[in-house]
This record gives sequence, C-alpha cells and structure tokens, in this order.
Amino acid sequence: MCGIVGYIGSRKIDTVLLKALSRLEYRGYDSAGLATVNQGTLSILKEPGKLTRLVMRVKENPVAGTLGIGHTRWATHGEPSERNAHPHSDCTNTVAIVHNGIIENHDTLKSHLIREGHKFTSDTDTEVLAHLIERFHVIQGCGLEESVRRTIGEIKGSYAFCVVSSREENVFIAARNGSPLVVGLGNGENFVASDAPAIVDFTRNAVFLEDYQMAVVSRDEVKITSNAGERIREKVVRIDWDAKDVSKEGFEHFMLKEIEEQPAVIDRLFRMRFENGGEPKLFDVLRFDVSQLKKVERVVIQACGTSWHAALTGKFFFESLSGIPAEVDVSSEFRYRKLIPQKKELLLSITQSGETIDTLMGLRHAKQSGFKALSICNVLGSTVTRESDAVIYTHAGPEIGVASTKAYTAQLGVLFALSLWWARERGSVNEGTYRRLADEFRELPDKMRKIISAKDRVLEIAEKYFQARDFLFLARGINYPNAHEGALKIKEIAYIHATGHPAGEMKHGPIALIDENMPVVAIMPESSVYEKMVSNIQEVKARSGKLIVVTTEGNTAIERLADDVIYIPETSEFLSPFLSVLPLQYLAYYVATLRGTDVDQPRNLAKSVTVE
Ligand code: G6P
Repeated sequence: MCGIVGYIGSRKIDTVLLKALSRLEYRGYDSAGLATVNQGTLSILKEPGKLTRLVMRVKENPVAGTLGIGHTRWATHGEPSERNAHPHSDCTNTVAIVHNGIIENHDTLKSHLIREGHKFTSDTDTEVLAHLIERFHVIQGCGLEESVRRTIGEIKGSYAFCVVSSREENVFIAARNGSPLVVGLGNGENFVASDAPAIVDFTRNAVFLEDYQMAVVSRDEVKITSNAGERIREKVVRIDWDAKDVSKEGFEHFMLKEIEEQPAVIDRLFRMRFENGGEPKLFDVLRFDVSQLKKVERVVIQACGTSWHAALTGKFFFESLSGIPAEVDVSSEFRYRKLIPQKKELLLSITQSGETIDTLMGLRHAKQSGFKALSICNVLGSTVTRESDAVIYTHAGPEIGVASTKAYTAQLGVLFALSLWWARERGSVNEGTYRRLADEFRELPDKMRKIISAKDRVLEIAEKYFQARDFLFLARGINYPNAHEGALKIKEIAYIHATGHPAGEMKHGPIALIDENMPVVAIMPESSVYEKMVSNIQEVKARSGKLIVVTTEGNTAIERLADDVIYIPETSEFLSPFLSVLPLQYLAYYVATLRGTDVDQPRNLAKSVTVE
C-alpha cells in the first residue's frame, strides 16, 4: 500500500526523504515521488517503478530546502506512471500532496472543480485534494491549515495525507481518516510517515494520529488538532525497536532474516507470556474485567491472509486445550455477515499490521453487534489495537518481507499461550499438563534452530522442483492450516499456482490433478492422524505424483514412499505447526530465489492492505 513521508528540519532534504521512503518499500508500490519547497519554489520529482529510479532522477536534478514530502504509490485509480505518481499539485504549482486511501466522491468533486476552471493532469482520485486546497489557499487566500480543514469538509472516503505549500515554508500538514500516520518527534526537526520503520533511523519518539485528526508540523512544534480545530494533547510513545530491526543485516532478503528470527521471537514470547519472573503477563491492554474473559463460552475469530491461517490453528488450540468452541472466518466475508451474538461470546481479530481494512471493518461490525473484542497484533498503536477492548501483542519486531513468516509463528505462540491460560483458568488441563506443554514450548526455539541449520536440504529439494507449474500441499488435523500457509507462500513469492487441502478432501477433486509432474508436499509429523496421512499419500504415489514429505525425525520408514523427506524435531502434536511451517517457508523462499522473483516485494502485493 502507499507509503507517505514528510519532513521539516535541517537535514539534507533529499537524503532524509529517500531514506524514509526506502524504509516503506516493503509495503508494496509501483511508483515513487517527492516534493520539496525551497525559497518559495515547489519542486516535484516522480518516477514509475522502483525507488532506485527516483534516486537517479534526484541525482540528475538536485533539490534543496528544509521542507518536503515523499510517496511510494500502489496504484488504485490509474495505471502506475509518472503522471499518476504522487505528489500531485494544483494548477498554480503552489501546493503538493501525497495521499494514501481512496476519495470516494472524487468524481463529483472533479466535475465541480473542472467547471470552476481547474485543469487535471492525472487519473488519480488524489488530485482533487490538490485542487480543493488550491481553491481555498491560492484562490480564496486562506492559510494552509485552514485550507486543509475546509478540504477535509468536502471529501468522503479514507485518507492519510501530507501537504506542503510554497507559500508557507515553515510548516506542513498531515491528516488521517482510516489510513495510518505516525508523527516522529525530533529535536528542531519533525517527521510524518505511514509507518514507524520510516522514522526509526531518526527518532523513536512518536505520536500515532487517530482518525479525524490533523497534525500541523513545524520544526519546533507539532500541533495535533481535531478536524474541527480543537487542540488535542498528544500521547507520545517510545518505539521499542530501532534501525537495525528494519535493516537486512547481511541477509540477502528480509524474508530470510525473518525466517531465521523465529527462534528468538518464540523465545521472547515464552519469557513474556509463560515465565516473566512470576505470574506471566498475557494481556497488554485490557479495558474490561478479566473475569468476563474467563467466562467466555465461544470465540469467533476473523483475520486475513497468513493471519487467517494462524486463526485456523487457534481454533484447534481453543477447542482441544481450552474446551472453548471456536469459529473462524476471513474478515472480508465476516464483515458482511449477519452476526447473531450469544452471551459470553468473544471476537478475536488477528492481524500483523493492525491496519488491514477488512479486519478493521470486521472488528467494527462485531463491536456494533455487541461483541467484546480481543485482538492479537504485532504493531504497537495500530488502529485495530486502539479499537479493541483487549490486546495481546506478538512482539515479533517489525516484519518487512511482504510474505509473513515470523509474525505467523508469533501469532501461533500467542494463540497457544492464550488457549493454555484459558485451559488453566477453566480447569480443562491440570497443572501437570500445563507445565509439560509450557516446557515443550520453551524447547521450540532450539528445535527451530535445528531446522534452520538443515535448510540446505530444503534448497536441494527446491532445485528439483522450482520449475514446477503447480504445487499441492496436504495435511490433516492441527497441521492442516499449514497446508494453506505453505501454498500461500509459494503463490505469493514464487508466482507458482499452489493449493492447500485437508488430505481427506483429496478424493473429492484434487486427486484428479496428480500426475508425474505434480509435486505434492505432505505435512505429516508424528500425530494422531499420521496413519490417515500415510493412506492419503499412498494414493498420490499410486498416481506417480512427486512426494515431498515433512515428518518427524527418526521416521525413516517414510523414505520408502516419499521422493524427498524433510525431518523436523519431535514435539507435542499441539506444537508441531510451529516446526512444520519452517521448511515450507524455506521451500517457498528457495523456489522463489531460483526463479529470480522479487522475494521481499512480490508483484501486485502489499504488506498491509488498507484499501478494500
Ligand atoms: C497481506 C500481507 C500478508 C498478510 C495479510 C493480512 O496480504 O501480504 O502477509 O498475512 O495482508 O495482514 P495482517 O496485517 O492483517 O496480518
């Protein structure tokens, strides 16, 4: 999704804007641009394609000044091209704006503005904002702040934007409704960005803007107001990670770095959620009495993408460990469902970013229907966390690769901790079982490290199959969501068609696809459904499918059936998804690198999907 940055201060303007934009590349984009104001002159440079093209452009056309905005655009209205790239300007080249979101009434506004004599130069919805601000600021002579306020009064839809004017060189304005914006507070300088990675090179003190708020940003002051102009006392938070967390640190890709951070992530979760030198702390935010949570009789889980796969595993945890019935839906469907809340029912939203629009709308929909809402999220201060009644953070650190890896296992970790907490509170597991499972959880990081040290085996397999046209992933029971996750990873980053199925469904369709060219990944660690999996893969073998089996160490018998075997360490069945997913992440990673795709920023995808 689009990335926005804004800066005022004495650093070199092009360096700071380009650095900040580079930190937002992970969000997904197809063009980039910046605008600077210097001695009353506005300069705009923009380029389709990757940020490196904009960097070259800036080299050839140096810019100066103390005030500027920048943008990475993920095309919605109009193809990715220079004319549609942001910043957009008005007829007089006085104001420049960068925007994330969709102005829903842009057609009507555009017709009015054209009748008033404004000339449009792009296909974007954003350009109407530039001309509206021009109407108030340039034509009617209002100050920039007032002009932005009036403009906001005219628009419908979601937005986060930053505006500069060549008439007001000491200030820029940011505003949000629906799309995230963070203000970075510096010393004699201030920043605005869509997301914290863009500012942590410069400052870790931040204010997260809320919907319907504006920030009037000058060098020495940030004034936060409501859209109506009332001053709001800002809540400054300290971002608890730094620039090295958003760097590759010698890894070829962020995705590889993040796969290999998983032992540390699970270790941190263990210490926070199970140990913590005494009574473990589970909830980071709890805006209602914990006794209500203890009495929950049903959990309704909603999420998108990889987070939805974590939700599917969470259902197993809640039902089998906590004895709480659970249902799962993808947010884009959930948000339009007629909800019939029962008493003592809880909504659980799972989201890495906390900004996915469907998940946010699902949360609002459920809250309106009377649900109490708990969320599992990775991003501090994100919209979903602010609108939930309770929050558990995954503390996975910033995830930059578009394909989610460490955030997924962190979500599984929190779901497991929550289900065990419930199980203990409700007496559905005894203390002995609780301790045994907690101890097994503690051992996961070492087991993950063992899988990481054997990753070359996955590379060998990837070398055999990277030219395949399709992949099938099969699993049963608690590992079945990983069949979806393995398939999603291959689709996302290697652009190979892949589907995940409960192995028992094979006979109802997917088996027709099996021939000697079809690689089938069977995820079958030692478990209560292992024998059933063996029967299913016999059916694959009988039809000459190529079998790649992920199974528990020591299970050498499987080598008679499988073409390739990847071993994972032994653990409890409940915890096996934490381990079985690692080879799947590596498989997708290696297949993608062998095919030469853009692993960290796959085509057409965005890290956080903030438009519907
Ligand atoms: C996008 C990302 C996925 C992610 C999904 C849900 O599709 O590319 O990696 O799983 O959104 O995002 P969320 O932030 O809500 O977990």
